[in-house]
Amino acid sequence: MVETIRTVGVIGAGVMGAGIAQVVAAAGYETFLFDAQPGKALEACDGIAARFERLVEKGKMSDHDRGRACDLLKPTDNLESFSAVDLVVEAIVEILEVKQQVLAAVEAVVGSDAIIVSNTSSLPLGAIAQRLARKNRFAGLHFFNPVPLMKVAEVIPLLGGDHKTGERLTAFVRSIGHTPVVSADSPGFIINHAGRAYSTEALRLLEEGVADPASIDRIMRAAGFRMGPFELFDLTGLDVSEPAMRAIYEGFYQEPRLRPSAVATERKLAGKLGRKTGEGFYRYLDGQREDLTPNNVSQNHLDTDITVHVDLAFPKRTIALDLLAEKAGLSTTDDISSADMILVDSGHSDLTNTICDRGLPKHKTFAMDPALIDRSLICLMASPASDLTLQQVLVAHLRANGDEVVCIQDSPSYVAQRMFSAIVNTAAGIVERGIASPQDLDTAVELGLGYPQGPLKWGDMLGPKHIVAALEGLRVVTGDPRYRPVLWLQRRAKLGMSLSNAA
Ligand code: NAI
Repeated sequence: MVETIRTVGVIGAGVMGAGIAQVVAAAGYETFLFDAQPGKALEACDGIAARFERLVEKGKMSDHDRGRACDLLKPTDNLESFSAVDLVVEAIVEILEVKQQVLAAVEAVVGSDAIIVSNTSSLPLGAIAQRLARKNRFAGLHFFNPVPLMKVAEVIPLLGGDHKTGERLTAFVRSIGHTPVVSADSPGFIINHAGRAYSTEALRLLEEGVADPASIDRIMRAAGFRMGPFELFDLTGLDVSEPAMRAIYEGFYQEPRLRPSAVATERKLAGKLGRKTGEGFYRYLDGQREDLTPNNVSQNHLDTDITVHVDLAFPKRTIALDLLAEKAGLSTTDDISSADMILVDSGHSDLTNTICDRGLPKHKTFAMDPALIDRSLICLMASPASDLTLQQVLVAHLRANGDEVVCIQDSPSYVAQRMFSAIVNTAAGIVERGIASPQDLDTAVELGLGYPQGPLKWGDMLGPKHIVAALEGLRVVTGDPRYRPVLWLQRRAKLGMSLSNAA
């Protein structure tokens, strides 16, 4: 427990307030829970007690700790009960005017040393604090849903506020078993801002017709993500994610790197919100997603043999040749002129430019993403001129051998690399703006978004130069300023510095 904080008051006994009260009481703080709706706080405390019971049954909490936490939880319908609290956490409806009013009323009740925080996800803290007399004692403390499982909280000191308030909050977050990350008061703070790359780049790929949602999801799962971007949209609901994308984009004065897409708005307006409406990017029947696993292995294609020339750099070439010749039983050749099909790596460019620049035959040349080839997924990219019968023959042989194959249309840097580059670039933008330190950014993304690694660690692993080259390729081919590499990233790439270096 933090010395100076013994008693906590939580306002709002909804999803977030109840989750926050649960972890705070479990950590040993006397916890008052208040809601404007009479009886709601009591109902929420009964729900928390039931969750504690389940934790005891699962052996994750001792009966003694359950009893102690329940004794510390105090539902109240009277804000006056907050008179002796050391910390107030506001988790009420996301309406600026209402938050301002409630916090001014709370400030009149609590002692002058008490810290007041808001759990807002989208409102500027500077605006919420407008009616407070003691702004030095105010900050943001942003938890994530479900609070007991999402073990990270963003501490958001007010611009020009007292650093001691931030330090006390950081210590408090640690004391309840969560990891604190410090963010500036800026749209989306760290986690929701960093998450924009995954969602908006996926929409961009869809808009460009590079691949369908199921294919993009399959690629990103193969690249190490727990969930593809469209599965995530369907889980969150476009009623939540579309306004969040728009708010962050507008918040940064229409920065192209954060640009959302009309695809999301159209689908939201049509009520295709995701799981909650039975249809989003996928369709759901009784909560089960429809199966979109491709099953188009035709015997005709299997009976056709094609000779393939593989033009990938070592060691990916060896893996590709093994897959094609040894496993799928296709003929391969080193002689490009006698090949029916040519597989190349289009690198940071796209296939069309690669074909034109290298004078390759346009009908029979395809690209294969070398980054995914040893990740149990084969990503084949066609150009508009590609002979798709050839592609079907290759796909049929690979699928018959049990390999997972995803076919995409022409794109600079394929799918996974585009997504990674956008994620690293957005993260670099967050650090460049001074919103978070590189360490806090990586920690926040790992814990808050569940990515396999923090974006900057990833950038270091792939190489900052490589990321910048991918972004430059995207910028040149698409002409879209969305892909401008952030200066902070460019300089580190040029100077050979790690992205984890805050300097
Ligand atoms: P919710 O709708 O589940 O709960 C809000 C509660 O506040 C309700 O019980 C309501 O009766 C109460 N309330 C409304 N006006 C009040 C007032 N004037 N005084 C006292 N109580 C009042 O909302 P939820 O999802 O718990 O969100 C609460 C806050 O947390 C919002 O600011 C939201 O943006 C933020 N947040 C929500 C997350 C989520 O995933 N749901 C994640 C992170 C933050």
